[in-house]
Amino acid sequence: MIDLRSDTVTRPTTGMLEAMFKAEVGDDVYGEDPTTNRLEEKVAKLLGKEDSIFVPSGTMANLLSLRANTQPGDEVILDRNSHVFLNEGGGGAAISGVQFFLLEGDRGMLDPLKIEQAVRDPGDYHHPMTSLIWIENTHNRGGGCIYPPDLVKEISHMAKKHNLRLHMDGARLLNATVALRIDPQEYTRYVDSTMICLSKGLGAPVGSMVAGDREFIKRVRRFRKMFGGGMRQIGYLAAAGIYALDHHVERLAEDHANARLLAKAIAQLDCFEIDPNNVGTNILYFRVVEEKLNPGSLEEELRKNGVLVHRVGSNFFRAVTHLDVSRQDTLKVISTLKQVISQLSL
Ligand SMILES: Cc1ncc(COP(=O)(O)O)c(C=O)c1O
Repeated sequence: MIDLRSDTVTRPTTGMLEAMFKAEVGDDVYGEDPTTNRLEEKVAKLLGKEDSIFVPSGTMANLLSLRANTQPGDEVILDRNSHVFLNEGGGGAAISGVQFFLLEGDRGMLDPLKIEQAVRDPGDYHHPMTSLIWIENTHNRGGGCIYPPDLVKEISHMAKKHNLRLHMDGARLLNATVALRIDPQEYTRYVDSTMICLSKGLGAPVGSMVAGDREFIKRVRRFRKMFGGGMRQIGYLAAAGIYALDHHVERLAEDHANARLLAKAIAQLDCFEIDPNNVGTNILYFRVVEEKLNPGSLEEELRKNGVLVHRVGSNFFRAVTHLDVSRQDTLKVISTLKQVISQLSL
């Protein structure tokens, strides 16, 4: 199977498994796991923050970031297609106690003026307190869209003006920085907190990192324990994360090139709608023209022919390239698509 449903489906490479096997471990809840400590230092340094913390998932990283940046009842301003709003089970409301003020972004990118208009009057006690602005980079539903660093800078100025904190859901932050060939700190210097996922394009089996200043990470550590995310001999998993950061960052460019190749091929097929110029990283969305092709049959026939894609809506599909999809696999997907369409076209 060539699995394009998500970049979360990767399996550890032999090198990564060897690193995991050799990891030195201890009890991380006591702060005694040397490999996890090493990973946390490494990520803090990479992101230019005082500290970072290993957590089980991107969803928990976001949940903790919501909780530690706010007080229950606060309001968070974010794009209406944010992953934390659409796909994290409502944990922001249920567990972290915040409410969301949703804005219509441009492929997920927020307009600082619209944010400013959404900030509540802190002097009016009828209003919830706005305390956090939330941005997602790259933006998943925006099609792997990359935040321009200057826009993040502008949003950060606006946040400071209103005494708000700024968090970046950077599940795929390194996809953005590799695509732009910039240092991650070109983004992270503008945000109070961020998270990155080790278990997406980077290819680790588990884990995400939250980064921020020392006091913030202390708070996250307390809430991680409260939420049941304190783990013991996780050095085995941290070793996979260290390996991923050492070996799998620069290669994200290959995933981006494969996604562009696939998008261009899809754009040439008249039963699909896609703008290949909007594919900046490893995620692409496309629509099936239903008069020309049945979306359900497409999904099924692709599966039968060894290709998995994610059907997000009735005629709306997502394909994501990653470590386990080579250039040859991408070419195979293109030829399979053409073959399946020739059989199914109405
Ligand atoms: C932008 C973004 N944030 C957070 C997450 C959550 O990560 P996880 O699946 O590890 O919980 C995802 C998952 O795909 C994501 O795309």
